[in-house]
Amino acid sequence: MTLFTNIASCVTVAANGATSKTGAAMQDIGEIRNGAVLFDETIRWVGSADDVDAAIDALGLDPADIDVMDLTGKTVLPGFVDSHTHMVHAGSRADEFAQRLRGVPYTQIAAEGGGILTTMRAVREASVETLVEVGERLATSALQHGTTTIEMKSGYGLTLESELRMLEAIGVLRAEHEARIVATFMGAHDVPPEYRHASDDYVQLIIDTMLPAVQRQGIATYCDAFPDKGFFTVDQAERVFRAAQALGLRGRVHADEIANIGASAMAARLGLASADHLEFTTREDVLAMRDANVVCTLLPGTAYTLRLPYPDARMMIDEGAVVALATDCNPGSCLTENMQLVMSLACTNMAMSTEEAIVASTLHGAAALAMADRVGSIEVGKDADIVVYDVPSYADIIYHFGVNHVWSVWVGGEEVA
Ligand code: NIG
Ligand code: FE
Repeated sequence: MTLFTNIASCVTVAANGATSKTGAAMQDIGEIRNGAVLFDETIRWVGSADDVDAAIDALGLDPADIDVMDLTGKTVLPGFVDSHTHMVHAGSRADEFAQRLRGVPYTQIAAEGGGILTTMRAVREASVETLVEVGERLATSALQHGTTTIEMKSGYGLTLESELRMLEAIGVLRAEHEARIVATFMGAHDVPPEYRHASDDYVQLIIDTMLPAVQRQGIATYCDAFPDKGFFTVDQAERVFRAAQALGLRGRVHADEIANIGASAMAARLGLASADHLEFTTREDVLAMRDANVVCTLLPGTAYTLRLPYPDARMMIDEGAVVALATDCNPGSCLTENMQLVMSLACTNMAMSTEEAIVASTLHGAAALAMADRVGSIEVGKDADIVVYDVPSYADIIYHFGVNHVWSVWVGGEEVA
């Protein structure tokens, strides 16, 4: 049993049994000044440091069995839940980054066979060990920056064999890494060159062959797709999602990133777990997603890197949608694993408050992965995924940006970084 006490700023993000806090409730992060948390694998008690002795008594615990850590001057938050990453990949696209800085658009690079297909070529050549190594490095760095749960997608293989290899690598990380890892199959990330003029045939391959293999092997929880201008049509993505749903794989989607071709409207229609990006999403789309319980996941690091217009987070929050933040960590459109930085981008460029950014990065990330009953807040009974920051207030994590404020990281009650 461990006790954190005298915590200057103990941010619980308490939701009292709910899996999200929407609208004005997003302002309430359940901060306890001079707080304390008592935990083993799960949170046993959280409250004011003044009430610790009484709580230990009431729980019938022997104080001799408790490791006490004095966190005077420090801040505690639930671990971040990064619900959208492509951390498992291979190769570098630093040269494409340089091209874009010279003014070549992302879509032109993609249309000329670069972009996702550049990474695809590297991934097809890579062994499972290499893929694990790349993912491990980024996941460890993410953990060191305060992220305790990470979703990871396939989608850079685009053949049955290489997509399964990516999911195998994610599976190795799931088993061995200290962070909690969730796997998503994303065969419909881009049309591979073999099917360049026959994208429907590729979609059919996903439906007839890839999805059943993924389901048989039990190596993914979610299915993702990229219906957007120059990639898949909404109709193709819908076929993939319907097939996935029939096999018990829930959908999450890359929506309205380059253009609004109806992807987020489809997310609402199909009741997907989450629609992500949403740079070109309309109010009508947002209302439909809100009413269908689709989490709106915003990736401001991608808007920053690709110099896209930022999603209208204010409108989404004010309309009562469940808004989450994630990194999109990938070699092309956003290479960061740092959720502290993502919060800073969200506050500065999308007019989110520091409190909204914290809820979006913890509880709502968990909601996007349907894990909010276990992680995303510091509440009795939840997993003890807790991060300590070497600052006296949560606002400092965002205000003082571009550096890592993490002091220690705990997953399931164990110190891991
Ligand atoms: O989320 N939009 C599609 N997929 C990724 C980019 C992947 C890449 O460029 O490698 C994204 O932005
Ligand atoms: Fe992505």
